Amino acid sequence: MESIAIEEVQTGSAEYNQVYDLREAILRKPIGLSLADEDLSADKNDIILAAQIGEKVVGCIMLQHKDASTIKFRQMAVAEELQGKGVGNEIMTAAEALSKDKGYTKVVLHARETAARFYSKLGYNITSPLFTEVGIPHYVMEKDI
Ligand SMILES: CC(C)(COP(=O)(O)OP(=O)(O)OC[C@H]1O[C@@H](n2cnc3c(N)ncnc32)[C@H](O)[C@@H]1OP(=O)(O)O)[C@@H](O)C(=O)NCCC(=O)NCCS
Repeated sequence: MESIAIEEVQTGSAEYNQVYDLREAILRKPIGLSLADEDLSADKNDIILAAQIGEKVVGCIMLQHKDASTIKFRQMAVAEELQGKGVGNEIMTAAEALSKDKGYTKVVLHARETAARFYSKLGYNITSPLFTEVGIPHYVMEKDI
């Protein structure tokens, strides 16, 4: 596989538009929802990381400040044709390293039940009962970094 670059992107950029399209295709359309119906005005407060092969965004994650020690990871997605090839792991590793650099000591995320195994392999622990978000089952998962 061609090498992957993981870089921060700004809202309003061409890369952000590609991140939007990826989120829509991977995280919303399959569950019958659309980002067009959501208020995305807080996106600009997040650190947005895009995994790119050449000019093409193939993965993303968004990092949201919760408090001085805790950062929330959200909107983790990998393009369908590249899933299962290690891209998700690369994105999570980069996001954790950046969070640590910024002084955070804990990551929290809402894992879809179907993705919980992916996060547990990376050292995340389930810390909540199953709950519903965007109409589907999730767990709160956490990791000290
Ligand atoms: C979940 C997702 C982000 C994982 O990214 P990925 O690039 O496919 O994952 P990787 O190839 O880096 O996999 C890393 C490990 O996790 C495992 N894994 C990946 N997705 C998994 C899943 N859904 N369930 C169980 N295990 C999974 C892989 O088998 C691999 O295991 P290994 O290290 O033992 O070989 C990606 O598949 C995706 O975008 N899925 C659809 C959207 C989604 O569910 N996003 C998360 C919302 S909380």
